[in-house]
Amino acid sequence: MNLLLPLALYALVVHYGASSPPSLATKPSPLLSRACDATDVLAVSGFALEDINRDRKDGYVLSLNRVSDAREHRQAHLGSLYYLTLDVLETKCHVLSNRSWKDCEARVLHESVYGQCKALFYINKPRRILYTPAYNCTLHPVSRRSIHRMCPDCPSPSPTDLSDPSVLEAVAESLAKYNDESNLKQYSLVKVTRASSQWVFGPAYFVEYLIRESPCTKSQASSCTLQSPNSEPVGLCKGSLSRNNMEKHVSVTCDFFKSQVQDPETKNSAVNQGPANFPQQKSPAPQHSPSPPVLQGSVQHLPDLDDEKPTVSQEKGLADDFPVHLNLTTNPQGDSLDVSFLFMEPVKEKIVVFPFPSKEQRSAKCPGPAEKYSPFILPP
Ligand SMILES: *[C@@H]1O[C@H](CO)[C@@H](O)[C@H](O)[C@H]1NC(C)=O
Ligand SMILES: *[C@@H]1O[C@H](CO)[C@@H](O)[C@H](O)[C@H]1NC(C)=O
Ligand SMILES: *[C@@H]1O[C@H](CO)[C@@H](O)[C@H](O)[C@H]1NC(C)=O
Repeated sequence: MNLLLPLALYALVVHYGASSPPSLATKPSPLLSRACDATDVLAVSGFALEDINRDRKDGYVLSLNRVSDAREHRQAHLGSLYYLTLDVLETKCHVLSNRSWKDCEARVLHESVYGQCKALFYINKPRRILYTPAYNCTLHPVSRRSIHRMCPDCPSPSPTDLSDPSVLEAVAESLAKYNDESNLKQYSLVKVTRASSQWVFGPAYFVEYLIRESPCTKSQASSCTLQSPNSEPVGLCKGSLSRNNMEKHVSVTCDFFKSQVQDPETKNSAVNQGPANFPQQKSPAPQHSPSPPVLQGSVQHLPDLDDEKPTVSQEKGLADDFPVHLNLTTNPQGDSLDVSFLFMEPVKEKIVVFPFPSKEQRSAKCPGPAEKYSPFILPP
């Protein structure tokens, strides 16, 4: 009876050997090409983007426009490591709102900021582990020239560094209006995050800025010079200032990151986020974690491509407009990545990580379908 099992194994080995090509000089890559519209690829891409957004302190929440490339590396008994290239779009939510990208509204085409992220994503379903060890993204604003050709009257971007006195005025006027209408609390400017201008019946300026609570009371108003002890931004305001002959119009709305900081009757609050239907085990067991679960990654904002390439070239892809580097290793044989801290109990577990596959050898069934299909906001 005991002989049966080894025999069966032997048969398997022989069968496997016979069906392999005679020359095995180059081992096939263990990275499987995946279809960019596969359900699990879309799911892990969504989780990776949640992690990326959660890791950021600055800028707007990025949403998934399409999966541009996907590889999966099945790790023996330890789940899979995915190599994802994601085409992303900025939404209207600030990252400090902690909102899921799925709950954030996309920007209109002429306000778009788009780009590409590369991310490694580790999933171990039986152990309920979802983890993004590393990511990097590159973003560009939509080409001003292309927008202008389509829509000459659309707003065009203004500098956000307050070098433009009209931007400063729009911020000051709209924040004053907000404070004036606020029942108790007063707010002050943290920083301008977006600005644009348009000619309507006169000049119009649109601004977005982060605010913090001011220690001043309403009666102290503009004469107050107290410094805010708690410098955390509490919300994002959208304001506008426009002139029509002699008349000045100011508008403002503010979106607060936490429900408890605002008069409950007037404001909406950020909703809780996170992949609720897939409980994550991310907190390391304290007594044996070799390293904390820090993500490595950054989002790089690059200028309008028109400014980099003054002569319009019809052919894309001559230069790499979206340089995103993500190599945890340069060893073509792969390196090991310690993931022990992701497990509840004291174990030594390592997965294998390879250099990120290059753009030239994209999976056959990629890119996937885009949520917003416009050539102006899709990286090549
Ligand atoms: C957002 O999440 C971070 C980290 O989890 C937390 O420190 C912060 O207080 C949260 N902010 C809001 C507005 O809920
Ligand atoms: C991410 O990009 C930055 C800047 O380009 C680079 O210095 C860093 O090495 C990249 N990270 C990885 C893990 O490749
Ligand atoms: C990343 O790895 C790829 C593939 O081995 C290699 O072509 C590329 O030069 C590496 N990039 C960096 C920044 O090391």
